[in-house]
Amino acid sequence: MKILILGSGGREHALAWKISQSDLCEVLFVAPGNGGTAEIATNLSLQLNDKSEILDTVVRLGIDLLVIGPEDPLVNGVVDFLKKEPKLKDLLIVGPSARGALLEGSKDFAKQFMLKYGIPTAAAEIFTKADLEAGKLFLAGLTPPYVLKADGLAGGKGVIITKDLQEAEESLEKLLAGQFGAASENVLIEEFLDGIELSVFVLTDGEAYVILPEAKDYKRIGEADTGPNTGGMGAVSPVSFADAHFMKKVEDKIIVPTIKGIKSEGFDYHGFVFFGLIKVGEEPMVIEYNVRMGDPETEVVMPRIKSDIVPLLVATARGELSDVTVTFEKNVAATVVLVSAGYPGSYETGEKIKMAFIKDENIIPFHAGTVQDDYGLLTQGGRVLAITGLGNHLMEALVKSYKGVESINWKGMNYRKDIGFDLVH
Ligand code: AMP
Ligand code: GLY
Repeated sequence: MKILILGSGGREHALAWKISQSDLCEVLFVAPGNGGTAEIATNLSLQLNDKSEILDTVVRLGIDLLVIGPEDPLVNGVVDFLKKEPKLKDLLIVGPSARGALLEGSKDFAKQFMLKYGIPTAAAEIFTKADLEAGKLFLAGLTPPYVLKADGLAGGKGVIITKDLQEAEESLEKLLAGQFGAASENVLIEEFLDGIELSVFVLTDGEAYVILPEAKDYKRIGEADTGPNTGGMGAVSPVSFADAHFMKKVEDKIIVPTIKGIKSEGFDYHGFVFFGLIKVGEEPMVIEYNVRMGDPETEVVMPRIKSDIVPLLVATARGELSDVTVTFEKNVAATVVLVSAGYPGSYETGEKIKMAFIKDENIIPFHAGTVQDDYGLLTQGGRVLAITGLGNHLMEALVKSYKGVESINWKGMNYRKDIGFDLVH
């Protein structure tokens, strides 16, 4: 098969790494890709917000299977656009239609969906510009911490949590005044849930589903979960507090009703569902839906899938997922993300990366923001590399990951030294 992955992060490198191992993969393209995908696939320069360019590329290259990594093209309706094209009637696509993608694209839409299908989540109210004063009154009646969420996509920056009422009111005002443009014209004010977070992933064809290995993501820049939020500074899989009993609750109370809802609403949904969950006491609750894989979670999930992933992706796209069996590794994976100085604030790019070669199949360097040029490998983003380590238990995986980390350096390289340590017993 000729396979194209859209995106350029660590997630897409991990997908490409797994897909490239399949006997069914004849040619692999990643658009736009990064310095890591260039080693195992052909990178194509392409604008992810340009649907016509994507269509032309798929036609020109005779792509059989298209896997869409990030949320923006999905929310922008690229799947609907491609599916309307008669020339592409045989194209297999992993990624939901725009309506399904609203589960991530609108927090209000997702909240209404969860309420309709009885899926446990935080209570919430929606406010618009005209309701600013009502919103402030509502905040004043709540017990802190206050949780405010821009309705639309805000690049992971649309959630504000504060214990200070005045700060909450000011944030509400700023959001409604257009801090994130149309994405924050509506704001959700939500009950604060106190617990421990995890990410659960499924592949679904809109009816059947396969549960993939779960993961825990480390979101804050600083050790011991301090400082501002980032795209993710590390991840581990499996998650020790998500035992079989808990995961059964996740399946029964969250996954099953979500898939049922997707079917009842008639969403054309062939792709990943990422459940951002929080374990409150012994109960799972949904913080958010994403309609794609997580990053850096993919970098620990892919190495734990034993089966060839291509038949699984094909079955997802074709609506034949109920016929597929998937096996997983019993190992543990940990990934540590290496970031540029200044990230998640402003940062420099173009730094030369020094990377010693380590021959160890239990250390996998996934690239996120890198580019290969005539001078070697250069930084090209905030998150630059995600070094995955594999082992029989978490400590072993972490030792491998940090061994990989120590073989890499560039000016201003930063990373967390405590990834996974909260879960080591
Ligand atoms: P989101 O962009 O929806 O993933 O939210 C970003 C982060 O805010 C989450 O990963 C949680 O750590 C936190 N968060 C979001 N909603 C809540 C909530 N209702 N209660 C507590 N924490 C929350
Ligand atoms: N790591 C969280 C996300 O991908 O949204």
